[in-house]
Amino acid sequence: MVINDLLARGMALIEEREYSNPRLEAVLVLAHLLEVDKSYIYIHGDKEVSKDIEHEFMGIMGKRANGHPLQYLLNREDFMGLSFYIEEGVLIPRPETELLVEFIIDYICKDSRVNILDIGVGSGAISLSIAKNCPNARVIGIDIGDTPIKVANINKESLGIENALFYQGDMFEALEKNKIDKRFHIIVSNPPYIRTKDLEDLQVEVRDHEPLLALDGGCDGLNFYRRISKEASRYLKADGMLAYEIGFNQGEEVRDIMLQEGYKDISILKDYQGHDRIVYGFKN
Ligand SMILES: C[S@@+](CC[C@H](N)C(=O)[O-])C[C@H]1O[C@@H](n2cnc3c(N)ncnc32)[C@H](O)[C@@H]1O
Repeated sequence: MVINDLLARGMALIEEREYSNPRLEAVLVLAHLLEVDKSYIYIHGDKEVSKDIEHEFMGIMGKRANGHPLQYLLNREDFMGLSFYIEEGVLIPRPETELLVEFIIDYICKDSRVNILDIGVGSGAISLSIAKNCPNARVIGIDIGDTPIKVANINKESLGIENALFYQGDMFEALEKNKIDKRFHIIVSNPPYIRTKDLEDLQVEVRDHEPLLALDGGCDGLNFYRRISKEASRYLKADGMLAYEIGFNQGEEVRDIMLQEGYKDISILKDYQGHDRIVYGFKN
């Protein structure tokens, strides 16, 4: 079958899904399978593809029709201009998280030697983007899940990053059990922050495929902010910074939690949609 006919068959499978861009998705899947750039697909619509590719392509498009996120099917997502390996079991990095990374990179002078802890590494998107952009930073990333630690290490390797290390464990326990006796200049986290009762209403792609462990922030969505804010000051240097990504309506609540835990100079930053997105403050 030629490329254009195969694309049409694949697109027909996913056209019903209102959130997908059928043509672009079909092109991306076929480009991935043929290991070519997507422009090749646009230009060579009359080129024959093998039966094996045809079969694989229809298999992937069938999964996509059932709500599997494209990023898991292609095992790729771009973040901060870097290409990350992704698989089910890690959160797909979101564009809004780039704001937190840009904020941290701007805050630390690229030449200064700083120790940074990233709580809940997922694919390693935050840790590795900071490490890549700030070669003098020393980044430690921790996560409770085995898959995030495995995937973060795969990305560390493929991106050629040496100034980041990953440890598995429940929050700060990961440091204790690995005998990392460090104080950090910055602790950063994009923790799970969805309210448990809102999980049911998430898009099927997120609800049925992304890890619950990366999403569920407890009954009011704030469990991790409470726990991290309480425990983090022990691991921060004097005047060290704690910086969070937050849900769009959690700014005031997270600020209050940080205030109660004794942090100073707390600020809330908005994203490009004008929603609260980052809260940060300093150890007193
Ligand atoms: C919202 S995801 C963020 C992933 C990644 N940092 C990003 O921004 O794409 C939250 C991460 O926290 C991890 N996590 C959940 N509970 C944890 C715990 N108790 N200790 C450490 N990590 C935890 C999850 O496995 C998940 O990878």
